[in-house]
Amino acid sequence: MQSAESKTSDRIKEAYLRKFGTDSAEPRVFRSPGRINLIGEHTDYNNGFVLPASVDKAVYFAIAPLAGDLVTLYAADLGETYSFSLNDLSKPDQSWPHYQIGIIDQIKKSGLTIGGFQAAFGGDVPVGAGMSSSAALECCLLFALNELNHLNLDRFSIVKMAQKAENEYVGVQCGIMDQFASAFGKDQMVIRLDCRSLEFEYFPFPMKDYLLVLCDTTVKHSLEDSEYNTRRLECEAGVKILKKYNPEINSLRDASIAIVELHKDELGDVIYRRCKYMTEEIQRVQQACDYLNEGNLESFGKKMYQTHDGLQYEYEVSCTELDFLVDLTRDNPDVVGSRMMGGGFGGCTINLVRIEAVEDFEATMKEAYKKQYSIELPCYRVKITNGTEEIL
Ligand code: GLA
Repeated sequence: MQSAESKTSDRIKEAYLRKFGTDSAEPRVFRSPGRINLIGEHTDYNNGFVLPASVDKAVYFAIAPLAGDLVTLYAADLGETYSFSLNDLSKPDQSWPHYQIGIIDQIKKSGLTIGGFQAAFGGDVPVGAGMSSSAALECCLLFALNELNHLNLDRFSIVKMAQKAENEYVGVQCGIMDQFASAFGKDQMVIRLDCRSLEFEYFPFPMKDYLLVLCDTTVKHSLEDSEYNTRRLECEAGVKILKKYNPEINSLRDASIAIVELHKDELGDVIYRRCKYMTEEIQRVQQACDYLNEGNLESFGKKMYQTHDGLQYEYEVSCTELDFLVDLTRDNPDVVGSRMMGGGFGGCTINLVRIEAVEDFEATMKEAYKKQYSIELPCYRVKITNGTEEIL
């Protein structure tokens, strides 16, 4: 039987051939996955730890070089086309090409040269679900252009340039987690990444007794990007205050919970709660990894609930739909952990569910969500796959 992944890659290749004609240059096909994150939320831009993995939902590019400096992008899932010259990277009104132009902008800023190309792209990472479809898009295109143009970029450079494309061109001050997970993912493994040193380690995730299931609220509150950037500024404001007393503090990674408590009054209510969540969460990832090493998923799951509570009440990036879904699991003995995942204000919850109870779990969640919001709740059973690659 054909896997869902090869079906999606065939679909994008067919879209390319339909769009550009079967007698046009034979495309090469690249894949870059979306990600989950088990724990360590909003810690990446505070130099903390994260625990993501790349999954079996991905973005695909079917792409071929062209003579000259024209680029034509075909968004297969939208049926829309955008063409531009490599010499004019101005921002179009429609937003989907921003990610791709942002990548070309970074290539140029690095002093590298590429030729024109035509590409069809699309995939099955749900957009707005907090699974990083944008990072997958960025990494996929940059990886493909690296191959096509022999740019000799290693995966670290691809990750950093893709993050900068999002920071500088798209305008979201995201950390490095999503691009890292998309590019460095490994079959069956979660990645513990130290976002300060960029050292990383793969951990096998035991999926024998438990499954990870995502419940997709399908909502995306428009606050997301602006609030995201605000959180970053709030953390920086906290660092500025703490640094006055502790010059060695350059990010919240360097601060302890005790130091945050000591300066509670000066930090003020909002900044204090952001700093409290952050210092606790950075510690939590370390403890959670120890539990994972011991195979103690029950205790791991308790950490996930603590993360959710922190994100809901202290970091304030959750929303009622996410809280509703997490609360529904709290008394369910078959769910050992649940929390909102990703940037917040919508998207998915990630749930650690006993394998024999997954069907019941999904049915219960779907029914309750429908009753509450009149929305069908998509549930995704996660499979952890390799990161960015060429499909040969
Ligand atoms: C978004 C950002 C990431 C990270 C998460 C929250 O996905 O792109 O860099 O900050 O939110 O953990």
